[in-house]
Amino acid sequence: MNAQELIETANALVADDKGLLAMDESNPTCNERFAKLGIPQTEEVRRAYRELIITTPGLGDSISGAILYDETIRQQKKDGAPFLKVLSDAGIIPGIKVDTGAKEMAGHPGEKITEGLDGLRDRLKEYFQMGARFAKWRAVVVVGDGLPSRSGLEANAHALARYAALCQEAGLVPVVEPEVLMDGDHTLERCLKITEEALRNVFIQLNCQRVMLEGMILKPNMVLPGLTSPQQASVDEVADATVQSLLRTVPAAVPGIAFLSGGQSAELASSRLNAMNVRFKSRLPWGLAFSFARAIQQPALEIWRGHEANVAAAQAALLHRAQCNQAARRGEYTAAMERDLE
Ligand code: 13P
Repeated sequence: MNAQELIETANALVADDKGLLAMDESNPTCNERFAKLGIPQTEEVRRAYRELIITTPGLGDSISGAILYDETIRQQKKDGAPFLKVLSDAGIIPGIKVDTGAKEMAGHPGEKITEGLDGLRDRLKEYFQMGARFAKWRAVVVVGDGLPSRSGLEANAHALARYAALCQEAGLVPVVEPEVLMDGDHTLERCLKITEEALRNVFIQLNCQRVMLEGMILKPNMVLPGLTSPQQASVDEVADATVQSLLRTVPAAVPGIAFLSGGQSAELASSRLNAMNVRFKSRLPWGLAFSFARAIQQPALEIWRGHEANVAAAQAALLHRAQCNQAARRGEYTAAMERDLE
């Protein structure tokens, strides 16, 4: 492992107020999003959509890295140019999702465990040779009656740490993603408690597996009340609770924290990230960035709907979201930025 390269890559991923674009939906998830909009669910249409994303003019000014899926990292533009070359020409670091999905956890009704460790060393080697420089693994924490269990949190944290150690051995920066889901009617306080517990477990395991914290990125959820909770929270309450959970659990050696959006609206995700940076940026040891999928892509997907004629408008919407989130990193995002586009 080349520690210096890992550190440089991790820092580059959160430099210049840029963030990550998660475009690593598995085929079933991508198809599900296409189906909702009546878009055909074929490999060619998925390819065309990913071409739209990566050829967005100026994307590299606000996006530092793009997380790809195994199908996507091997694809080309219609004119034959490999996606990996398009990304590197745009100054965007290619990354790759390497888990094989969250499955039902044996003996733990309602909980999930992420799979993909078997054979991972060889897969990482191949992805590095192809040009990937970072990877992603997502663990899922379900909030429910008596959930999550201690053993569920520990098993997922252990898998994340095993993955992260293998990534660093292969020269890839691990993006470590423990996601506490928004589904449910729980309060913000409960999400805070569970997020803290999940992160505490993750850093214990990262330590045990000898992961170099300077060469990784954390990808957590924001601390939010459940989607169906009667007690919703203000933007500032979310910002305060989220930063509190991170200050209590994330070592200062970690260079960057890049949030997932988790089903929040694009505007709310930007506002909440902005509030965190406005209120806390000057006294935080790590950068607070973004690694959104839906909160960057969804407006563009809804404009595109599979039609060539809509490509330019969809790209403008995608770029706008990336720019709003870059502004949010600077604490300069305002509601007026949304009106500007109309
Ligand atoms: P969302 O931003 O849509 O939650 O996706 C982020 C991600 O990469 C989930 O693994």
